[in-house]
Amino acid sequence: MDKFLIKGGKALHGTVAISGAKNSALPAMAAALLTSEKVMVRNVPRVRDLVTMSKLLAFMDAKVSVTSIPASDYAIEAPSLNHAEAPYELVKTMRASILTLGPLMARLGVARVSLPGGCAIGARPVDLHLKALEQMGAMVTTSHGYIEARAPKGRLKGAHIVFEKITVTGTENILMAAALADGETVLENAAREPEVTDLIAMLRKMGAQICGDGSSTLRIRGVSELHGTEHTIIPDRIEAGTFLVAGAITGGELTIRNCAPEHLGAVITKLQQAGARIDALDATTLRVRPADKLSAADVTTEEYPGFATDMQAQYMALATQAEGTSGITETIFENRFMHASEMVRMGAHISVDGRKAVVRGPTQLSGTTVQASDLRASAGLVLAGLVASGETLIDRVYHIDRGYEGIVEKLRGVGADITRVHGTGL
Ligand code: EPU
Repeated sequence: MDKFLIKGGKALHGTVAISGAKNSALPAMAAALLTSEKVMVRNVPRVRDLVTMSKLLAFMDAKVSVTSIPASDYAIEAPSLNHAEAPYELVKTMRASILTLGPLMARLGVARVSLPGGCAIGARPVDLHLKALEQMGAMVTTSHGYIEARAPKGRLKGAHIVFEKITVTGTENILMAAALADGETVLENAAREPEVTDLIAMLRKMGAQICGDGSSTLRIRGVSELHGTEHTIIPDRIEAGTFLVAGAITGGELTIRNCAPEHLGAVITKLQQAGARIDALDATTLRVRPADKLSAADVTTEEYPGFATDMQAQYMALATQAEGTSGITETIFENRFMHASEMVRMGAHISVDGRKAVVRGPTQLSGTTVQASDLRASAGLVLAGLVASGETLIDRVYHIDRGYEGIVEKLRGVGADITRVHGTGL
């Protein structure tokens, strides 16, 4: 397994370009299953989850080809789908494989998708996806670790669905399922994340009839077929937020290009509250400059437009460098503080009680060997390593490779001393 070796203490300076959003590219690729025509998805980040999604679509007999070098544009063509199945071998490496359930049900009226298990950050059930499909007429059973769903006469019907809890991929799955269902679907308490809005924009180009984007009530009038399209994925707001913290935490000056500042409102406000100086240079460029002093500020994760849970670990790294006591409350996932104990091993003063962490700073972190437990925890540890004294060795960085394109190269490009140590397979 690969590791990252970081020699901390360098202020980062320069310009970094943000890639396409992983969590937008995943549903966009899955949406290509909704039509027999060619779909072009551009600005796909070069990260492992997207490779897994390509393999999954190919397993179902879709033709997936990369049309740009380096690979970030994909052409997907699924004239016929012979395996309406997401096998365990792929689902176990990527939970977002569940995003194929909605499109398969919409297109074929049948699907077999391995149940994603729990993961490092929580149990993460998919019960709300399944209940909603049942409301749309699907018969859903789970046995032998697989979800098996079938729509009578091969077609789902519109329904009035109220999600008990806001779910991002649940909203995306039902949007895709409803796009080809008979009649109208009303989806209440829907997720409002920019990735959901991006999917709606793409589906609309394919001929879907959807209104309400950006609000928590979506109305989808099913159509009989969808057609091919071209779609460019929005910038990754979590990658941009991670680099904002990287600039703020190292006392450097970073220019962050190709980002969407309007998707980063809560993160920018919180970092500014902590003392970071952030300004928008133009509609797609942010600059972060050294804070006179970083000060503690409490944060609570929330669904969009609140502070993203996917930025919580990175914020914790920043809180270790801020003066005072920062309370960090995680409301989305029940077990998303695994990075805290690794940061404590680096000298941070963090106590965790259930869903609340308390960080006392500032602390001079000291480098040691730490383990990454999930994608965003890894990012938090990289940030901690950038300010730690001496060397930090981060193990299990396959987590970070799932979702951050070229993070080592991008950080090196702005002056970080970080190298990938190739593993021996042990
Ligand atoms: N939930 C249920 N039942 C369901 C679905 C969700 O109880 O059927 C619960 C979850 O257990 C969680 C909450 O609802 O407590 C919210 O989960 P959600 O379904 O919104 O999460 P997700 O769709 O599985 C996406 C992102 C995550 C991100 C979350 C929250 C993708 C592919 N993944 O996951 O991204 O943390 O929304 O914003 O879009 C990441 O990129 O590192 C990542 C984990």
